[in-house]
Amino acid sequence: MFRKTIYGFTVIAVAVAVAGIGPVLANNSPVSLAAAPARAESVHVPATYESMDTSHDGMVTEKEAMAAMPNLNFKAADTNGDGQLDRVEYLDLQEKIANGTWTNAVPKKEFVKTIEGYDDNPVDVVTKAPKGSLKNPYDPANTTVAAEGRQQYLNHGCNGCHGGNGGGGICPPLNNGVWIYGQSDDTLFRLVSLGSKKLQESGYSRVSPETPALMPQMGGTNVKKAGDLWKIIAWIKSMNAKKSN
Ligand code: HEC
Repeated sequence: MFRKTIYGFTVIAVAVAVAGIGPVLANNSPVSLAAAPARAESVHVPATYESMDTSHDGMVTEKEAMAAMPNLNFKAADTNGDGQLDRVEYLDLQEKIANGTWTNAVPKKEFVKTIEGYDDNPVDVVTKAPKGSLKNPYDPANTTVAAEGRQQYLNHGCNGCHGGNGGGGICPPLNNGVWIYGQSDDTLFRLVSLGSKKLQESGYSRVSPETPALMPQMGGTNVKKAGDLWKIIAWIKSMNAKKSN
């Protein structure tokens, strides 16, 4: 039986909660995205279908569903895509939430695109930009940007590993002022885009290790837009404004 202490608690405890991830963390190999635990925001599903149907026409529209469950990712719940939450979908949602398999509870939102190159693929951005040259176009002190960044962070599933508020979970906290590779915009953008392994291969190294685990690549397939990532980084920075290593 192996035990390894990672920020005060033992991997064995994590391994029980998230079977399979604990050993992966300790082996210093990439944490599999597929294995990331679901840490969805809670959605309170009404006990009856009828109670949501405020127009009493036998159908629950998106508007009615959202009024009853403001936190619902309607698109994910509306599995047949007809714009209604029908009874089968309602029962399915209720069951998934009850048994903890609903992972898609955070509503996706379109954000204002105010910067040039917002839609650029973060991996392309990283590949083209000389080392050390990337700079966040957003100001972490802008509370709207920070709020959008937090929503993007949830939409991209970062919370599964780093916790809903960035306080850490099975992976290092993002709000404790300790920066594993340093806190520059350039480093953080590259780390999230490429993951630890490719970041290290491109000449960046840990200055303040918090964990033996590697972060998977998030840019490209998961985080597709550079602008989304800059907002996430602005939010992370906003939590660390006065603290740093
Ligand atoms: C599968 C788990 C996992 C997911 C998902 C994940 N990360 Fe990470 N993250 C890690 C690990 C592990 C590390 C530590 C990497 C290292 O030491 O090389 C890390 C490190 C970081 C750091 C550096 C923290 C510091 O203290 O310097 C940032 C910033 C970060 N992640 C942001 C994100 C963002 C943004 C997302 C979502 C787009 C995300 N992570 C998704 C596992 C994950």
